[in-house]
Amino acid sequence: MSLITSQKIHINKASSSRINDVDFNNLTFGSVFTDHMFECDFIDGNWQNPTIKPYGPISISPAAKVFHYGQAVFEGMKAYKDDHGKVFLFRPKENLKRINKSSVRMAIPEFPKDVFFEAMHKILELDKDWIKSGLGNSLYIRPFVMATQVGVSASPSNAYKFMILLSPAQAYYTGEVRVVIAQQYSRAADGGVGFAKAAGNYGAQFYPTNLAREKGFQQVIWTDSNEHKYLEEAGTMNVFFRINNTLITAPTNDRILDGITRKSVIAIAEKNNITTEVRKITVSELVNAAKDGSLKEIFGAGTAAVISPVSAFSYEETLYELPKQEPSFASEFKKELMEIQHNLTEDPFNWRYKV
Ligand code: COI
Repeated sequence: MSLITSQKIHINKASSSRINDVDFNNLTFGSVFTDHMFECDFIDGNWQNPTIKPYGPISISPAAKVFHYGQAVFEGMKAYKDDHGKVFLFRPKENLKRINKSSVRMAIPEFPKDVFFEAMHKILELDKDWIKSGLGNSLYIRPFVMATQVGVSASPSNAYKFMILLSPAQAYYTGEVRVVIAQQYSRAADGGVGFAKAAGNYGAQFYPTNLAREKGFQQVIWTDSNEHKYLEEAGTMNVFFRINNTLITAPTNDRILDGITRKSVIAIAEKNNITTEVRKITVSELVNAAKDGSLKEIFGAGTAAVISPVSAFSYEETLYELPKQEPSFASEFKKELMEIQHNLTEDPFNWRYKV
């Protein structure tokens, strides 16, 4: 059975552009969208009618299953423009693989590779003026899938909508990030959906993150749901620890997202002969390292912020401040990663994808 009835993407161009209304020097992450969006519907067992059309509201029944059961997955990826106007994606095949892995877990049909790439090429061609060159500027790309079948019976939908939105983004400065180590709430559990970019994973973090904010912290470092003993992720990102000169991050499992920035950081660290350990790390190891001074850095790694350094963490009501590092692993990894993404340097890993 073919996954799609026709691969030909119908294009309905916006009659005018909104680009001149946008202040590209003052963008709030994820709040402005380009002129076009992509959509494709899964109906009668096939993906159908791939279409690019003007960005705007869509009509969807309030009884659509996505609103009741959260059957939805998403991705985050970025396009970059170099100083010669060439546009690149960063490891997009990984995003396609992951959205399909997330979809399988959420009983959503996989999306065909050819249409995904064809849609990316066509929509980026139409909206390429929205991608600004310059280190740190990018176009955040949000592919997502939602269950559109009308009806509140608790069973998988038989209809879905796959969409792609594009949002111009600037260098994402997270500011001072102080985190709380989770002791009560969990992001994910064994056998659950933590490894998937399921919409509900993120929504479920909002409440415990708000509680942390009320105490003056920006994010939560999530620990395992069984014992709250192992360090797993930070906010919406994977998390890395530097103890002396060793880089440590948790292995991926049911509960941890297989982050593309995460695996890129590991590859860059290994290329630079930095001792890298992908292993479980306990809260007590972290606390002891903070106490004896061997803990040098903690940082999050994800598509939106790239690398986000943590300045302090709290555990059992005690605050542990991290020393300032000059240069830091975090700043070096961020620089190396961004230079590859922006075509400012060679790409020894073959990660850039020319659009
Ligand atoms: C990422 O940085 O990878 C994310 O998923 C962030 C997004 C939830 C805004």
